[in-house]
Amino acid sequence: MKHFLNLNEISTKDLKGILKQAQEMKDARAGLPKGTIDENQPLHQHIVALVFEKPSTRTRTSFDVGVRQLGGQPMVLSGAEMQLGQGESIADTARVLSRYVDLIMIRTFDSDTLYELAKYSTVPIINGLTNESHPCQIMADIMTFEEKRGSIEGKKVVWFGDGNNVLNSFLHAAGKFKFSLTFSGPKELDPSKSLTQEAKNLGVEFYIDRDPYSAIKDADLIATDTWISMHDDPKVKKDRRNQLKAFQVNEELMSKAKTDVLFMHCLPAHRDEEATSGVMDGKNSVIFDEAENRLHVQKAIMRWCLSR
Ligand code: CP
Ligand code: NVA
Repeated sequence: MKHFLNLNEISTKDLKGILKQAQEMKDARAGLPKGTIDENQPLHQHIVALVFEKPSTRTRTSFDVGVRQLGGQPMVLSGAEMQLGQGESIADTARVLSRYVDLIMIRTFDSDTLYELAKYSTVPIINGLTNESHPCQIMADIMTFEEKRGSIEGKKVVWFGDGNNVLNSFLHAAGKFKFSLTFSGPKELDPSKSLTQEAKNLGVEFYIDRDPYSAIKDADLIATDTWISMHDDPKVKKDRRNQLKAFQVNEELMSKAKTDVLFMHCLPAHRDEEATSGVMDGKNSVIFDEAENRLHVQKAIMRWCLSR
């Protein structure tokens, strides 16, 4: 069975195949109303459960629309309203849902929940974000980069801010797509040592540069994210702002970048905190193309999960 849990567990060939199919599907339906069903209806007679234990705008909407465009039927479930929220085990939830639906996407907290679900499910599981990773987002980011600039192989990607779940998936992707990744943030918010060590052992070009002005030099793609993630304790807010203010992506920092650098943010953003509105709405920003490509890439991910 093909689960889509983390990018480091999937072959480069399959990941590239997903991106290719996503682009073909996007091109094929250009200009059509959003509710038009794709020609060959690959999810015809299939039901997909979309389980959310955390809030979502993009993931929820893009998966729901994607399932419909593929000719399937989406079912959005809130974790808090399921027996999962009342203490039913993940294993039993997986066994039960597998009897009703053909595919499950879950957004949850601890990645152990995701892996437990996959262990006991008899249908494929897709990771729609955990505290540790966000692989669907990074597939959309790579699709967006390649759509605008060609292959990401050998390019320099720079991450500003917190070493969080989105950065972790960039790190997984760096190994698969062979781009270099530079982290520019405070030491206290470095990505996990075990993850960076594992990546380095696999030959990933991973660097830490705490000077944002030197990090941004020669970058082909720069990305940032909210300074406080959904799983973070809101009490850290004040400290985070102090720790991270030097890593804000603003016009002054952008003026030191190559003129054709792309700026990405997975959204939702706290405008004028991690990035200024001038940058988010500026000429290098592709944040809304990125959001759109979630739809196309996730359709290809669902097809991959159900393929033999
Ligand atoms: N980028 C992203 O996953 O957005 P949502 O939290 O709105 O789903
Ligand atoms: N790092 C953010 C990403 C949101 C899509 C979070 O986990 O809240």
